[in-house]
Amino acid sequence: MATRTKAAAVAADPGTTAPPRFASVAAAIEALRPDLPVYALFPKRITRSVRKFMTGFPGRTLYAVKANPAPELLDLIYKAGLRDFDTASLPEVKLIAERFKDATCHFMAPIRIRGTTGEAYRKYGVRSFAIDDERELQHLDEETGITLPSERKKVTVFVRLSTPVDGAFLELSSKFGLDAADGAALLKKVAAAGFTPALTFHVGSLCIRPMAYRQALEFCRDAVEMAGVELGGFDVGGGFPAPYPGVPAPPMDDYFYAIREARKTLRLSKKADLICEPGRALCAEGISAITQVIRRKNDRVYLNDGVYGSFDEMTLPDWNIDYPRRVYMRTGAGKVVEVGGPRRPYRVYGPTCDTLDKMPRPILLPQNLGDEDWIEFGMLGAYSCALRTGFNGFYPNRWVEVQEA
Ligand SMILES: Cc1ncc(COP(=O)(O)O)c(C=O)c1O
Repeated sequence: MATRTKAAAVAADPGTTAPPRFASVAAAIEALRPDLPVYALFPKRITRSVRKFMTGFPGRTLYAVKANPAPELLDLIYKAGLRDFDTASLPEVKLIAERFKDATCHFMAPIRIRGTTGEAYRKYGVRSFAIDDERELQHLDEETGITLPSERKKVTVFVRLSTPVDGAFLELSSKFGLDAADGAALLKKVAAAGFTPALTFHVGSLCIRPMAYRQALEFCRDAVEMAGVELGGFDVGGGFPAPYPGVPAPPMDDYFYAIREARKTLRLSKKADLICEPGRALCAEGISAITQVIRRKNDRVYLNDGVYGSFDEMTLPDWNIDYPRRVYMRTGAGKVVEVGGPRRPYRVYGPTCDTLDKMPRPILLPQNLGDEDWIEFGMLGAYSCALRTGFNGFYPNRWVEVQEA
């Protein structure tokens, strides 16, 4: 087996230069023989996902940075043409503003640490903020300190509503958001304060029902009618699915159609900015985690990555996504090849000493799986590296680019 020192010689410095490029995952493994996890970025897939939104969504697309803030990925999203980012903390604002000088950050967390609104406004030029209570509106007022009415108008304040949950794997309506009546009252206060009023919601992550957006927009219509204010912005949030195997999500065009149709019923002015802020749908397909088997003991497999690394999302309640897998072995001639053949269920564990570091369900892998074989988990771009920890000394952070379609 190649040593880590040898592999390091071909690795790029993450975050400062582009990762090393390979024609295929097999070629990357063959060159690096990695004994630590490696993230494979697929630029073609990222570009495809970004372009789908930029050409199909009937408004402006923001990327929700929290889904995956890895600079290597952000660079590809930017290269694909996207310039707007949903940044939900000051560090995310800073990351984007310092990396992409012509990007626009939108601070879409409804509660913010004291002082961060003012800093985002003054230092980073942020002009859109979400809120779901009056206190946050007061903070916005105090921290920006804007007095000129024309300058206040340039700040768009998105009131977050808690819309009905329908078809999402992970609901995002119980922590933040107002009902239509309270939302209407807050919209009026935003308008009275001289800011530009706007609405936002989140149907929940991995939403497999386009109609959920339509229902949410109808819910918003009630708030708009009660408030009687003219909206300057409308944000339908994230929640768009990625095409995981076995997940019955309709094509993305069905979501765009549902939103386009429902928008008509809102009678928004031509000036109102319609936006969406997908995370998962832009980054899931474009990244695999290449892991290695440290040890196989009968039906138990110990990998060099686990739930404290790239696989946190697997531990969500009722989360039964079957991330696609490819397995690679060495041949006698020192080549690395993808292998097929009969599979059997294994109990799969991560590398740490913690008992909880295990995949919640058995995973089907080749019967002849052995020590030091590699397993590529595909479609792992969303909420994987974003949630990795350095627990027990393991922190996956090696990147390659793979030119597969
Ligand atoms: C406010 C907001 N916008 C966008 C997103 C991205 O959601 P998704 O990855 O489901 O598209 C999230 C996810 O938590 C969110 O909280």
